[in-house]
Amino acid sequence: MRSLLGVTLAFFVSISFAKNIKKTPISKIENAERYSEETLQCLSCHMNAKAFVYYDWKNSKHAMKGVGCYECHRSDIKDPSSFMHYGFRISTLVTPRKCARCHKNEVKEHLSSLHGKAYFTLSYNQITKSYYLYLLKLMGYGKYTKLPYYKLLIKKNPSTEVIFLPKFLKRKKLSKYTLASLFNNHSCLKCHGSKVRVYKKFVDKVFLSPLGFPNEGVGRINPDGSVGSCANCHPFHSFSIKVARSPESCGVCHKYTYESYKHSFHYVLYKNLSKNLDKKNLIPGKDYRGPSCASCHMGAIYEDDLHTLKYPSTHNVSRLSAWKLLYGVPRKKNMKINKTLSKTYYIKAGKKEAIISSKPLRYSRSLNMTYNLSFIEARKVAMALCEECHTRAWTANYFATLDELTASISKLQKFLLALEKALKKKKVYTAYDYIMIRNLYLKLSRKVTIPAFHENYASFQSLDKFTLELNKYLNNVKRRLGLRTYLSLKRKYLN
Ligand code: HEC
Ligand code: HEC
Ligand code: HEC
Ligand code: HEC
Ligand code: HEC
Ligand code: HEC
Ligand code: HEC
Ligand code: HEC
Repeated sequence: MRSLLGVTLAFFVSISFAKNIKKTPISKIENAERYSEETLQCLSCHMNAKAFVYYDWKNSKHAMKGVGCYECHRSDIKDPSSFMHYGFRISTLVTPRKCARCHKNEVKEHLSSLHGKAYFTLSYNQITKSYYLYLLKLMGYGKYTKLPYYKLLIKKNPSTEVIFLPKFLKRKKLSKYTLASLFNNHSCLKCHGSKVRVYKKFVDKVFLSPLGFPNEGVGRINPDGSVGSCANCHPFHSFSIKVARSPESCGVCHKYTYESYKHSFHYVLYKNLSKNLDKKNLIPGKDYRGPSCASCHMGAIYEDDLHTLKYPSTHNVSRLSAWKLLYGVPRKKNMKINKTLSKTYYIKAGKKEAIISSKPLRYSRSLNMTYNLSFIEARKVAMALCEECHTRAWTANYFATLDELTASISKLQKFLLALEKALKKKKVYTAYDYIMIRNLYLKLSRKVTIPAFHENYASFQSLDKFTLELNKYLNNVKRRLGLRTYLSLKRKYLN
């Protein structure tokens, strides 16, 4: 409705966003013979407008192979985010669907990994909405919050003057839901990906809602129905493969895992003894000595002769995982990641939702939220990986002990969930419990089991502090739940 109104408005009032721009003659463009007619037109302006983009792209593999502005940004009328730009229909967003014109496999693999589902795992297990609502409640905020500095922020602000601010952000009083969305926009969604919405559409300009864009999260939902943003690991516009391979680029989102990996000898070797990181296929021992996040979770895996390919490189980062470590459960083939997802999704979004009809990539209708490999199959992949450099016994010793430890620790996680259920049943569950249980639960995986799989032994040092925190909370719960219920749960889950 809103976008319709925008189009009519543009028709009658004829709002134009075109600017007068200095143009570089095409004869003066370097390597002009490599590029399409359309791209040459883009370049003639963009060597002077947002010239950063031009210089960033100019030395990339894409530029060398003649893949220019138009080849990536060109769009069609079916894409809600497309607009006419000096005679060309383009979109600012270059979504996986557009990359798939040339990189189909990478896009498919990305989608079948947990990265491709990161938005859904977030928004439909209700944590997103409730997490900040509970936090705001604990902080003391009420149903509405008066926005301070209203005039300064809304009336005279150079940022709000050049976009269309959605109504709920223009109110003098923000509802607790709006406030929670603002937090959410700048935290959870930054890594997991947002839902990008077209807020106002004119013939030659599209305004994306500020809640949701800019965003380069792994599971971003795009207006053209595709999922993901390839630009979180591959920076636009160099699309440097060296940057994508760096542990730091994973660390942008995988904060704790990166911190533990950084304290492993693997990292020290990777950092100090790697070369050719821009090259197509990296070979362990030749190009790097200690593995990186990308080489373990995405890289090609060879037999120990280092010539015979065992598993090709992949954008499915789930390939290596035998556990669902965050929850401490072993994976089963075709195990649903979130049982209620497809149902909820249909109800919430309706069948017309673009993502379900994005035919070119053949997304499953109900979003196939399943794991590709069973525990045993994934363990075989991981062992083959380590055996590129280590012996079979070294590798087996490592996994045999770590798997037993992970299984034992997961009992404590299940105990915490059982306590949560009991507190709810007794109707004594509060926002404090929500935050405490979530926090303690996640510490067990993010600070103990996941780091342990990344060669970080320091994680065990903090177990004493964790135990004291847990103990304090358990004493509190014990009181409210009653000793009998508490002890019977403890017996059931921890013995
Ligand atoms: C006549 C000059 C001109 C031509 C030709 C031109 N652009 Fe632009 N383009 C601009 C200017 C000016 C901007 C505004 C930059 C800003 O926002 O500061 C712009 C903005 C953009 C944006 C960002 C739009 C937004 O607001 O999000 C993209 C993407 C873009 N151009 C791509 C292209 C592509 C691809 C081509 C070739 C098909 C092209 N441009 C051709 C002048 C031009
Ligand atoms: C390999 C594909 C690719 C090529 C080639 C490419 N772009 Fe982009 N461009 C992207 C991606 C990806 C984004 C990020 C948008 C998103 O979030 O989806 C982007 C974003 C932009 C933006 C917005 C940047 C910002 O920070 O606001 C502009 C402007 C732009 N491109 C212009 C150009 C111009 C001009 C060229 C040619 C010199 C070009 N692009 C070539 C993929 C490409
Ligand atoms: C019009 C076709 C086309 C489109 C669209 C396209 N690419 Fe490419 N891409 C290529 C070609 C050609 C190469 C060079 C392949 C080679 O040399 O083996 C390449 C190479 C790459 C590389 C390797 C770079 C390197 O330094 O080795 C990455 C990463 C990449 N593309 C990512 C993307 C992403 C992400 C998108 C979408 C935002 C995209 N591409 C869109 C054609 C395209
Ligand atoms: C800094 C990046 C980042 C932010 C911010 C972030 N997450 Fe995550 N999230 C991750 C990563 C990475 C994982 C994968 C597990 C791990 O390594 O901890 C994850 C996993 C999850 C999972 C498990 C999903 C599944 O597979 O079942 C949930 C639920 C989740 N996050 C919720 C949230 C919520 C709610 C917020 C905001 C309060 C949030 N996340 C903010 C990076 C982030
Ligand atoms: C989690 C980070 C990450 C994301 C997200 C990601 N890539 Fe990659 N990409 C990489 C890494 C790392 C490599 C190098 C893999 C290797 O060493 O074999 C790579 C390599 C590539 C290559 C070069 C392949 C080759 O063999 O030359 C292309 C093309 C590519 N990615 C396209 C994409 C596209 C398209 C998307 C979006 C669907 C995407 N990537 C999303 C990290 C990522
Ligand atoms: C833009 C943020 C972001 C970046 C960058 C990123 N990830 Fe992730 N990754 C996530 C989120 C969020 C999840 C959790 C998704 C979920 O559980 O729903 C995740 C999950 C994972 C998982 C768990 C998969 C599974 O099936 O359990 C692995 C492994 C992983 N990422 C590896 C990587 C590697 C390797 C890189 C760098 C090459 C990387 N990620 C870069 C956000 C990111
Ligand atoms: C030596 C190879 C190796 C390196 C290097 C490595 N990982 Fe892992 N990673 C593993 C293994 C093995 C597991 C355990 C998988 C399992 O069995 O579930 C794992 C688990 C994970 C998980 C939890 C997924 C799950 O199984 O539930 C995430 C997220 C992750 N790694 C991200 C990263 C990131 C980010 C980096 C770099 C900072 C990194 N990894 C470096 C091998 C590695
Ligand atoms: C690219 C080769 C390579 C790969 C792949 C690799 N490692 Fe390593 N790893 C090394 C090297 C080299 C060392 C350092 C040996 C030394 O101490 O001098 C090392 C050290 C270790 C150590 C000893 C750390 C310590 O200080 O106690 C363990 C344990 C280990 N690796 C486990 C694994 C596991 C498990 C995998 C598979 C998930 C794996 N490695 C994959 C090369 C590799």
